[in-house]
Amino acid sequence: MLWGHKLKDSGVIGLNERNANYITALNSRRLYPRVDNKRLTKSLAAAAGMAVPELYAVAESQGDVRGLPETLAQHKSFVVKPASGSGGDGILVIDGRYGGNYRLINGELMPESALLHHTSNIVSGQFSLTGQPDIALIEYRVQFDSVFDEISYRGVPDIRIIVYRGYPVMAMVRLPTRQSDGKANLHQGAVGAGVDLATGLTMSASSGNLRVRDHPDTLTPIAGHQVPHWGRILDIAATGYEVSGLGYLGVDIVIDKDLGPLMLEMNARPGLNIQIANDAGLKPRFAVIDAVLKDGAADNEPEARARASVELMQPFSPR
Ligand SMILES: Nc1ncnc2c1ncn2[C@@H]1O[C@H](COP(=O)(O)OP(=O)(O)O)[C@@H](O)[C@H]1O
Ligand SMILES: [Mg+2]
Repeated sequence: MLWGHKLKDSGVIGLNERNANYITALNSRRLYPRVDNKRLTKSLAAAAGMAVPELYAVAESQGDVRGLPETLAQHKSFVVKPASGSGGDGILVIDGRYGGNYRLINGELMPESALLHHTSNIVSGQFSLTGQPDIALIEYRVQFDSVFDEISYRGVPDIRIIVYRGYPVMAMVRLPTRQSDGKANLHQGAVGAGVDLATGLTMSASSGNLRVRDHPDTLTPIAGHQVPHWGRILDIAATGYEVSGLGYLGVDIVIDKDLGPLMLEMNARPGLNIQIANDAGLKPRFAVIDAVLKDGAADNEPEARARASVELMQPFSPR
């Protein structure tokens, strides 16, 4: 068993099972670019009426990189990221300027030459999944809603929702830590907390394979916080099915204090550690959805599916 902790529910899905029974069966390869290329994801999502962080600029060549300072001068804060990156690699979250330098979210200062050098490395493909030349995206930096200040360190927490055949079935919020450098990626050291799908309340949490009660930096208990805009968040997650076409999907959402929920990215191979964060397996939840769809009771509108999920996932709420 991979986990250092024994999960209380059975029905935990492992890696081989995920790949064979879910990814291969439900996610057609030809649809992968829709989620593996963040620029394409952004434009498809926007066309479907989903709110996303505004794209300020794109650098597709080293020439484009040299032209960036002019665009960047118009923005106080922004994020630089590889269009085909993953796991938070290659992402710079810039939250202001100090003297002639850019200030990273962890307080570090970066001269413009270093920022451009980094962007040029993105374009060369240093952070892309395949090592192929990539595109650098410069986008709006999300100003996170203060609701999670007590349980995150600097960066932007994100909310991951597993959407199975169009229905949201499990959720977690990933909380940045000092170690994760303003990013909410678990592999960078962020903490994952399970979120009750029916109510949007945070529950148990895990750091790596360990269960934790408090945030490692703020030392505040993680459970019992209400994720705001929960209904809207479930609507966005369900809409991810129409946008991606993927039957086994991870939708990542962030909450901006002025703009509300924004879709950050989607994933065709969502990780399995959401099960650790929730102390629950995915399989029984998939079974509920399979049963609903077998009876031909599928709701076609994403909002209707999101509302149905709240009812259908009720049995999995903490008692
Ligand atoms: N526009 C943004 N504003 C603020 N933080 C961001 C933004 N984009 C990404 N981040 C931070 O970086 C993390 C990783 O970004 P993401 O777009 O999900 O790329 P990856 O595929 O590498 O996970 C996010 O979870 C978030 O914490
Ligand atoms: Mg991500």
